[in-house]
Amino acid sequence: MGMNVFVLTGAGVSAESGLGTFRDKDGVWTRYDLSEVATPEGFARDPAKVRAFYNARRANLAGAEPNAAHQALARLQAELAARGGRLFLCTQNVDDLHERGGASQVVHMHGELAVTRCHDCGAAWPDPTPLVPETVCPACASRGRARPHVVWFGEEPLFLDAIDDALAEADLFVAIGTSGAVYPAAGLVTQARAWGVRTCEINLEPSDNARAFDERRYGPATQVVPAWVEELLG
Ligand code: OAD
Repeated sequence: MGMNVFVLTGAGVSAESGLGTFRDKDGVWTRYDLSEVATPEGFARDPAKVRAFYNARRANLAGAEPNAAHQALARLQAELAARGGRLFLCTQNVDDLHERGGASQVVHMHGELAVTRCHDCGAAWPDPTPLVPETVCPACASRGRARPHVVWFGEEPLFLDAIDDALAEADLFVAIGTSGAVYPAAGLVTQARAWGVRTCEINLEPSDNARAFDERRYGPATQVVPAWVEELLG
């Protein structure tokens, strides 16, 4: 039977594509108040501010390209599948750079930036264009309730059951480019260890969670991820 790998990625994997991280110096949450732009309460108070924040991020994403780390993970996915194994690629990122780098079946536990959702009925549709107040939901016809399909603080991440099942079956859990500050994603390493799954961290520098991992590799994702993939596929 082939190798079964669970990869969890965070903003660090897209940093070298020019998309900012959240908690580093100059990170998004040092420049914006997350309670204003990334909570249901913030959207209720000032929807225009929330739309402007995500419209800027949609524009950044449209101008970004996948990097060598995204491409290496796509290669790992294809090679493992060809050998009867699997890569379960789970990301906290709302960008689509894993897909554009060639990966498939990416599990976006924090949603997707280029998808719009109706805050009232939950209907969601692909939409990379700016969010505007005039939008009418195609499912429930409410007006002005369009929001990004992004999980906000206070909301439950997506696909948690599928994530649990995949982790239980994994031989190896690897966290790449994530600070380990946001739960439940940050707790997956502990869960993996409890289930006897080997764990590895790949990050620019030791994360908040570094000591929880069996193995650690540090450096820019565009260098460390391709090298790790090469080694794993041996
Ligand atoms: P963070 O900004 O918290 O952490 C990014 C991590 O990437 C840090 O540990 C950096 O050291 C590392 N890093 C930076 N540049 C890197 C590079 N070139 N190569 C490798 N690593 C690098 O981002 P996340 O952990 O992804 O949630 O944040 C988790 C969640 O918090 C996000 O999904 C988002 C945010 O609020 C929502 O929007 C719901």
